[in-house]
Amino acid sequence: MLNQKQKVFITRKIPDAGIKLLKQAGFQVSVSQVDGVIPRDELLKKVKGVDAILALLTDKMDGELMDAAGKQLEVIANYAVGTDNINLEDAAQRNITITNTPGVLTEAVAELAFALMISVARRIPESDQFTRKGKYKGWAPMMMLGSELHHKILGILGLGRIGSAVAERAFFGFKMKIIYYDVKRNEEFEQKFQAEYRGLPGLLRDADFISIHVPLIPETKHLIGKNEFKIMKKTAYLVNTSRGPVIDEAALVEALKKNRIAGAGLDVYENEPKLTPGLKDLSNVVLTPHTGSATIETRATMSELAAKNIVEVLNGRPALTPVKKP
Ligand code: GLV
Ligand code: GLV
Repeated sequence: MLNQKQKVFITRKIPDAGIKLLKQAGFQVSVSQVDGVIPRDELLKKVKGVDAILALLTDKMDGELMDAAGKQLEVIANYAVGTDNINLEDAAQRNITITNTPGVLTEAVAELAFALMISVARRIPESDQFTRKGKYKGWAPMMMLGSELHHKILGILGLGRIGSAVAERAFFGFKMKIIYYDVKRNEEFEQKFQAEYRGLPGLLRDADFISIHVPLIPETKHLIGKNEFKIMKKTAYLVNTSRGPVIDEAALVEALKKNRIAGAGLDVYENEPKLTPGLKDLSNVVLTPHTGSATIETRATMSELAAKNIVEVLNGRPALTPVKKP
């Protein structure tokens, strides 16, 4: 039987779909009224006595927070696929279920990764500025020359759902050759996309475009830094829609300044929302504000999936998309 008094706290306004679902399930739902990321001290107060938290990737969910909520806390549903904001160890120790939103945002993030590849290679933001500023004085044979994606080599770093969805677009749409690096090989993927497995140095050496899709864990922090930029082609483009700290951003700025690589497209940053000094002054980088999953369709579905996870767990059923400690 559903306990009418079970409480759910949502750390920031999200699309209505999930909120509605939680209310229909009979929970007492409250949503942070703060316009922005809820400050830590307020968050610690607001979670007191709740059975479930619907959290965002900007909220740190650690042992202190879980203890502030209390022993009745059963589930934290992250409104994201990445869970690096959550201490999974602390949650396991306290028997708290953690869920994320895999699958529902795969296509949206893959589309943005592709958009960044095309934007940086075809210099779209730069061309847009040029045109708006009235600098376009007529067609010219040498104006705004960029690179093609067609038939180039795409290196997928991290082969999960999103990496596979990027490969699908690249292989079928752009006839790109796919190489990939992950901790494990995937033969089905290799067959489907005629893809070749590489070690990290091999991938860096051979790829014309590199798209990053690894989770942020201690092993992937600064996976790409000074030494890696040295291996990459001078004509290579690097795109990151995963987590900022996977790239040593200072080393990236240096590499872009010195034209060690051709360009980069970033949706995530090492110290989000701050940018490493110098980054925004470069014309060979395209920057978006962590909007990989930011489509009307996907954000609504994420809201629903996070809510459904809470409904399941608070009703004593298994979560739909639980996260285990890697
Ligand atoms: C967004 O970055 C997510 O992890 O869903
Ligand atoms: C996320 O859904 C991934 O597996 O890449």
